[in-house]
Amino acid sequence: MKQPVRLALLGCGTVGAEVVRLLHEQSADLAARIGAPLEIAGIAVRRLGRDRGDLPVDPTLFTTDALGLIKRDDVDVVVEVVGGIEPARSWLVEALRAGKSVVTANKALLAEDGGALHDAAAEGGGDLYYEASVAGAIPLLRPLRESLHGDRITRVTGIVNGTTNFILSAMHATGAGFAEALEEATELGYAEADPTADVEGFDAAAKAAILASLAFHTRVGAADVHREGITEVTAADVASAKAMGCTIKLLCIAARGTDGQGREAVSVRVHPAMIPLTHPLASVGDAFNAVFVEADAAGQLMFYGRGAGGAPTASAVLGDVVAVSRNRLAGVRAASESAYADLPVRPMGEALTRYHISLDVADRPGVLEAVAGVFARHDVSIATVRQGPAAGTAGAAGEAVLVIVTHVAPDAALAATVRELRGLDIVRSVASVLRVEGGL
Ligand code: NDP
Ligand code: HSE
Repeated sequence: MKQPVRLALLGCGTVGAEVVRLLHEQSADLAARIGAPLEIAGIAVRRLGRDRGDLPVDPTLFTTDALGLIKRDDVDVVVEVVGGIEPARSWLVEALRAGKSVVTANKALLAEDGGALHDAAAEGGGDLYYEASVAGAIPLLRPLRESLHGDRITRVTGIVNGTTNFILSAMHATGAGFAEALEEATELGYAEADPTADVEGFDAAAKAAILASLAFHTRVGAADVHREGITEVTAADVASAKAMGCTIKLLCIAARGTDGQGREAVSVRVHPAMIPLTHPLASVGDAFNAVFVEADAAGQLMFYGRGAGGAPTASAVLGDVVAVSRNRLAGVRAASESAYADLPVRPMGEALTRYHISLDVADRPGVLEAVAGVFARHDVSIATVRQGPAAGTAGAAGEAVLVIVTHVAPDAALAATVRELRGLDIVRSVASVLRVEGGL
């Protein structure tokens, strides 16, 4: 058996504590797989006095001096499960430049400034692995960055945020409104006290940027991702989706396409969308994640599992720890970042989407013609129109509900259509606007 591989663990919260537990429980197997034992050199935390229960670790290993720990000569691998941009970025750049390997679950940092980490890894010669940063336990980034490297990925569509999937699944199952479903998610421990990052789509947007970077060999950052959350999704939207044989999911969509000049480009977006109940992602319930990958030769692939939680996320972290440790012992490093394609990222207005629009309108001759004329002026083709009585009027009050589903059109044209509809006298209100994905 060789000399131990020594780890600096930064963070010992939900994920870090499970990393410690698994390192302890599986130490013999991990050592056999790596060819050397793993040893924790130190654990950096914010509060030394915090009660950490029965964590199987020597309490003298805890420190609040993360940088001092990283710089120690006897540290080979730095595992970062703290989160946030700073000081995590400075710590990891320092570690990578010094030639240490880094394993991180920090999607926010990778999406904000992944380039700085990759550059530092290239400079220092160590590995940078981050499987846990997207979709928790699901092996997804390794397939994208290794297994599918002989193929051309055309589209990645995913449910990558467990909290919002729990909320939308509850709304679909019970007819509850957003606030009620969020309350349930909070009570059950799925949503955090401040759920902004999840419900406003920031968490999913960071993951979308990481997925797009790997799928399209292009540096994509959080700022390149069009982001909309689920706070505006109503019980009426969900009911309308159901009436059409659909459900609503918060999707991350990264797709190849062409820009206005016909050059290859990518678009990356996160927003709620209606998908048919027959779509593989429609059956992903509760707080689960799933990612649907389409590639030229491989065809369609689906990855499914637990996207969050201490143990599932620690599983992905440890997989990376084994990989980087084996590389160090063999004196090799994994393939470096692949960003050679450097494709431009298209603005959302150029993305091709479909809309489901619900309008409260006056029920009199010429209304349908006037509404259809707005769509025609913006070159948006209507796929289906359904008219019903306005809620609570039984059709007697001269009011009606029009539900229109469009064919595919540029998002900017659809947005302009909705703007003009809002200005029509005969349109009492635009009750809901939702994108439609996955064929209908
Ligand atoms: P927690 O908030 O549970 O834990 C954070 C840890 O970092 C704590 O141990 C805390 O110390 C420590 N810490 C915070 N600030 C500092 C600091 N300045 N110096 C030293 N230590 C510090 O976070 P999670 O475990 O939930 O998440 C960790 C990372 O994993 C994040 O990047 C997150 O996005 C990612 N992730 C989390 C998932 C999950 O399900 N939780 C899923 C996938 C990824 P102390 O214990 O003293 O408070
Ligand atoms: N808050 C995230 C979620 C945790 O709900 O999916 C995993 O990144």
